[in-house]
Amino acid sequence: MLFRSLLVASFVAFALGQNITQVILDALESALDCTGCHALLIPLQTLAHLGNDDFVSVITSICTTLGLEDADGPILAHSLRDMSATGATATKFCTAVFGLCDPPAVNAFTVPLAAPPATPKVWKSTGRTPFQVAHFSDVGAEANCSKSICCRNYADEAGDPITQPAGPFGEFTCDAPPALAASMLTAIGGVRAQFALFTGDVEEGDVWLTTEDEVTTDLVDWNSQMAAALNIPVFPVIGNHDTSPVNSFPRNTTDTTFAVPWVFNTQGAGWQQWIGAAAAAQEESNSGSYAVVVPGQNLRFWLYDSDALQPDPNGILAFLAAQLQIAETAGDRAWIIGHMPLGKSDALHDQSNYYNQIIQRYSNTIAAQFFGHSHKDEFEIGYSDYTHQSAATANQFAWICPSLTPTSGNPAFKVYDIDPDTFEVMDMHVHIANLTAPTFQTNPVWEVYYSARDTYGALVGAPTATQVTQCQRFGISVTEAFASNTTAFQEYNTRISRGGMVAACDAACQTTAICDMRALRSENNCPGFQFQEAGLGRGRDECSGSLFGPLFSQLLGAKLT
Ligand SMILES: *[C@@H]1O[C@H](CO)[C@@H](O)[C@H](O)[C@H]1NC(C)=O
Ligand SMILES: *[C@@H]1O[C@H](CO)[C@@H](O)[C@H](O)[C@H]1NC(C)=O
Ligand SMILES: *[C@@H]1O[C@H](CO)[C@@H](O)[C@H](O)[C@H]1NC(C)=O
Ligand SMILES: *[C@@H]1O[C@H](CO)[C@@H](O)[C@H](O)[C@H]1NC(C)=O
Ligand SMILES: *[C@@H]1O[C@H](CO)[C@@H](O)[C@H](O)[C@H]1NC(C)=O
Repeated sequence: MLFRSLLVASFVAFALGQNITQVILDALESALDCTGCHALLIPLQTLAHLGNDDFVSVITSICTTLGLEDADGPILAHSLRDMSATGATATKFCTAVFGLCDPPAVNAFTVPLAAPPATPKVWKSTGRTPFQVAHFSDVGAEANCSKSICCRNYADEAGDPITQPAGPFGEFTCDAPPALAASMLTAIGGVRAQFALFTGDVEEGDVWLTTEDEVTTDLVDWNSQMAAALNIPVFPVIGNHDTSPVNSFPRNTTDTTFAVPWVFNTQGAGWQQWIGAAAAAQEESNSGSYAVVVPGQNLRFWLYDSDALQPDPNGILAFLAAQLQIAETAGDRAWIIGHMPLGKSDALHDQSNYYNQIIQRYSNTIAAQFFGHSHKDEFEIGYSDYTHQSAATANQFAWICPSLTPTSGNPAFKVYDIDPDTFEVMDMHVHIANLTAPTFQTNPVWEVYYSARDTYGALVGAPTATQVTQCQRFGISVTEAFASNTTAFQEYNTRISRGGMVAACDAACQTTAICDMRALRSENNCPGFQFQEAGLGRGRDECSGSLFGPLFSQLLGAKLT
């Protein structure tokens, strides 16, 4: 009923030549639920059909009216033009952009996969000394500081006078200055890792200001900075912020004005020194995905880029499955590295489901998965049967790296101890630089914050050193301890932001947080899991960086207060 009346009202409004900015503002006001969101899409769509320039100009005017930053207009206009306002895609759009719809049921799709081998390879540890691998993510390193997110008292900073200059090594309110990034890379050099994983997002907060030139410069600069500081190979991935406009990785059949070969080509050239020419070429022609065999190790990496549409955008899932089949045939073990953890609420349910089919088929080949994006120190457990979540069905484990950028807590990176026979993670050590320590602004000290084996082993009993860790089983015991022991959970809640910017998490938050840990498939997470985001209306978009979410949240917040 609401939907119909709004729909009519919108068309009448246009017919009378009313102020379209006001019509959209009114529709925003009425968009309190999923139906209202679908109704809001009608005037937005009509506007989108007028062209990108008109769309951007009206959205800019709405932002100005509401006193907000501008949004990523042309992409939204493009999407709006190509969807039906009432269909499932529109529902997904309302879920992702406005948080107003529950995600629609998963579109059943069976990923074509080869039959599993009759006798799966058995992986056994012989108890050799583990080797080390470093993992860092979401650096938000911005060398060119003429932008507001840098918030430093740089000579080139024009505009409002600075009342509280940020320290040279950064603040909780700012992205990471180059000095902090350099300090972290030096610390990583000291942990004697064989290689490092970088799970994406060079760009961070200044999403409304990015241009192709600027993102390219930042990517090139960061690749050079990593190469200069680290004398070990780095296996990097592309984050959702590492493009312009933010989050824009179009399907290859879409309007080519949005295509981003420049991102893939820039990174192919920058990463070739670590991943080799063949993988760099693969990365350039497979939307950022590549596979490499790590020299001296029977270990393969794949990149999975999850910012996409259904069922298998640009053939990335097919690429992943094909590479895992090659690994299985070769008797190799594989790690998957990617930016966005597949269990998060901003991972599309369809693609997460299809991804899960692949990792279930190749669960014996995949030893571990590594992601970033959430800026938090977290993990996700994957199950062969989500209706029977137990130690018997848990068979995947994803490590999520906290960020260097301090906007979500103390700057951090991880070091893993890896069993050289099974390539499973035997322990994880989180290293932090304490931003509130008195010496931070002169000489940040990187120290081990905690070890998973020591800290959680004390709660649930650590696996013995020679045993294959079976992280997922250890993880289940840890989540059980979190569920029954609030003190242990609160300590975890402090650790996810590395003891800085700790957000309160009450009993309901505890329940959804634990549910979230038990979901590497996004349809199984608990909606409403909002650790840090609490208090931002429905601002679940902290990491996705679409500005429509925050815009709407602020509008909603303004209405509710
Ligand atoms: C349209 O509405 C907006 C928001 O109320 C207002 O700021 C703007 O001045 C109006 N434009 C015209 C041409 O009336
Ligand atoms: C720094 O940013 C400004 C404004 O975005 C741009 O004009 C300038 O070319 C950039 N400088 C470098 C070295 O990238
Ligand atoms: C484009 O995407 C399709 C799947 O949607 C894939 O099969 C094809 O290989 C892709 N082409 C390129 C050039 O990436
Ligand atoms: C950081 O340093 C401050 C000040 O010395 C201290 O109170 C705090 O406990 C430290 N945080 C961590 C996580 O070590
Ligand atoms: C609960 O967790 C705390 C903090 O880790 C620990 O000291 C305590 O022994 C745990 N309690 C039980 C009953 O396991």
